[in-house]
Amino acid sequence: MTTEITYHSQPFPYVIIDDLYSEEELRLIWKDFNHVYPLLLPGDKTGSAKDNGVFQKKNKGIFINHEDNTILRLGGKTWSLLNTLKESLNPGEWWLKNIRTSDSKTLVSYYEDTDYYKAHSDCAEITALSWYYKEPKKYRGGDLKFTDYNIDVECKNNRCIIFPSMIVHEVSEIKMNKGDMDKKLGRWTISQFTWMDNNGPDEIVKNEKVTSVIEDLYPTPTYWSQVKDYPFINNEIDRAMGGVDFFDMSKRWGSSHSTTSDFNKEVNIIEELGLESIRKEIDNHVREYCAELEWEFREYWMESWFTRYKKGDYSDVHRHGDSDISGVYFYKTNGQDGDLFFLSPTAPLSIAKCYHQNGLKISHQPQEGKMILFPGWLQHGVNVNNTDNIRMSLAFNIRFI
Ligand SMILES: [Fe+2]
Ligand SMILES: [Fe+2]
Repeated sequence: MTTEITYHSQPFPYVIIDDLYSEEELRLIWKDFNHVYPLLLPGDKTGSAKDNGVFQKKNKGIFINHEDNTILRLGGKTWSLLNTLKESLNPGEWWLKNIRTSDSKTLVSYYEDTDYYKAHSDCAEITALSWYYKEPKKYRGGDLKFTDYNIDVECKNNRCIIFPSMIVHEVSEIKMNKGDMDKKLGRWTISQFTWMDNNGPDEIVKNEKVTSVIEDLYPTPTYWSQVKDYPFINNEIDRAMGGVDFFDMSKRWGSSHSTTSDFNKEVNIIEELGLESIRKEIDNHVREYCAELEWEFREYWMESWFTRYKKGDYSDVHRHGDSDISGVYFYKTNGQDGDLFFLSPTAPLSIAKCYHQNGLKISHQPQEGKMILFPGWLQHGVNVNNTDNIRMSLAFNIRFI
């Protein structure tokens, strides 16, 4: 992968850098994207341009300000490449002079279906945008257009464009299939904003919109995925389930549902019934989860059981003991028969009035073929099934050896 820099002097000066980052640098950037994904805020919370009071962008984003953050650290490459270019250009290039590279502002944005950024200019002097997406590209649109000059710049993976912030630009609307949504498969952008060192007092910079950010500390890494071959997996389970006994857990746990284990001994229903497809599927997802957590995968011990919720059944808030990773696979559900919810481990936040808006309970609507993995210590439960459907899920615990 060779970085290629193209300088355009007309009709306004701009620089395009293709293959900005190396494979290894991209790997680190994706790691950071994964970390910030749950923290992304609506467009109106991240310094959106306004036109007559109307926010011009529809996307999600977050300003990054950790000094040791990978994206910030690697972002220095953009400015150092620009400085290299400066030396080879006419010294009269006004906009490349004295660019302040030490305290630029960095925003990570994410666009999915119907997201856009209408024509606007940025509150800075130099803007550098770089774009990223998972290959193969799962969306259309998202190109950058300089509307006053009718110049289109194609949004390519690992491409960066640097231009004077005052030049009006827009991001065309993203089109994406529903099935590809919420999987980080959309258009990621790193926006870097900076100023000239010789342009007026620092107060100008301090008065810019982009001066502070709320950063959520201690997020809990959970994982979910829609299993591709779930009809096949469910067929295998259907064939094996006949004659399997369920135990009523209402007396034992105060929860009114039934399970295939009475929990007097450790059981693994997957092994007992020889459910090879779901066993492999769980294994793949656990490996993926560990990779995302940057934890070296090892062999594990597993227990598993089916859970059945009839009308009126629910599961009280509980944890899964000393399980390293716990998980659920939705086997039979109509989507309305009881959300799985997680309680915030930072519940004490609500003691102070100003944090009331932070969600203490986050729910997952059940969906056939959906798998969720989470730390075994995370408190969770299942809402009442108010439908006539019998909701069935497979629960499991994993302990690494
Ligand atoms: Fe912009
Ligand atoms: Fe549970």
